[in-house]
Amino acid sequence: MFAQSLDLGPRSEFIRDVRKGLGDTRQKQLPCTYLYDEIGAALFEAITLLPEYGLTRADARLLENHASELARCLPDAIVVAELGSGSGRKTRWVLEALAKRRPLDYFPIDISHSALVKCRGELGRLERVRMTELELSYLDGLREVMGRRKRGQRLLLLFLGSTIGNFEHAEAHEFLKAIRAHLAPGDALLLGTDLVKPVPQLLAAYNDPTGVTAAFNLNLLARINHDLGGEFVLTNFEHEAVYNPAERRIEMYLRSTSRQRARIREAGMTITLKSGETIWTESSHKYQLQDVRELSERTGFRLEAQWVDEEWPFAETLLLAGS
Ligand code: AVJ
Repeated sequence: MFAQSLDLGPRSEFIRDVRKGLGDTRQKQLPCTYLYDEIGAALFEAITLLPEYGLTRADARLLENHASELARCLPDAIVVAELGSGSGRKTRWVLEALAKRRPLDYFPIDISHSALVKCRGELGRLERVRMTELELSYLDGLREVMGRRKRGQRLLLLFLGSTIGNFEHAEAHEFLKAIRAHLAPGDALLLGTDLVKPVPQLLAAYNDPTGVTAAFNLNLLARINHDLGGEFVLTNFEHEAVYNPAERRIEMYLRSTSRQRARIREAGMTITLKSGETIWTESSHKYQLQDVRELSERTGFRLEAQWVDEEWPFAETLLLAGS
């Protein structure tokens, strides 16, 4: 179901978000989803290989080590769907463990066509796994999966990689409630969350010395230049990542190193930046185990199992939709 030909949703939405986010006079900001165009996704892949960024390896390690245990928590008659197919590499462990028991349907859900193509490359040839890509938003995709599954089948929904960390706490709450509303009692959600850890370790992960994260962040301006006729001079900006202890999150900014203006033709605007002014581009919330428990219980789930990586604090939590 490749409904849209554009990679990340309609351009008019991008224009609207740029107008709204950069027109703000107090704190300029842009939604972090725009970091992930094709170049951004490739740069993120490079980030996951950095020695300082242990998050993705911890996620993969937990799935590899606990996949059979996870399978034992779930009924045999089950379909798997995934929100944000990512590269699909770590999902392999879950699919293999479940497909050992019986043939399996797998529905990766992503609005990015190229992400789904990559996912097929990575997982398309797993034995006894039938993959059906859904090029849709998370909730539209979930609705589609619920319509396609057969009587008596349960659903395992994967939301890995601490993507939920991009949400404000209130948004995460609303999102899990919306997911729960689509599920039936006994359906499962496997949720990956990066955990609070020593601040120097966090700062190193988002300020890597090779500058890959800086490139990932700056690419957002390159994308605006390319897609919307922007005139940002990238060398007039610096990457910045700070830890906000009150909100327990990493905040990523692009800091203007001089007083400057930049026209964005397609948005019909010229933005003005003071020297030192910032554009907020991403938040990455860090969870405590009890946050995950509270969040799930307040949104209609029951915590069934939880696995935590020792090397890089990260949690994989299996939640069951309550009745
Ligand atoms: C993909 C949202 C989990 O928050 O760590 C990595 C994105 N940003 N380095 C994260 C990211 C900068 C990443 N998530």
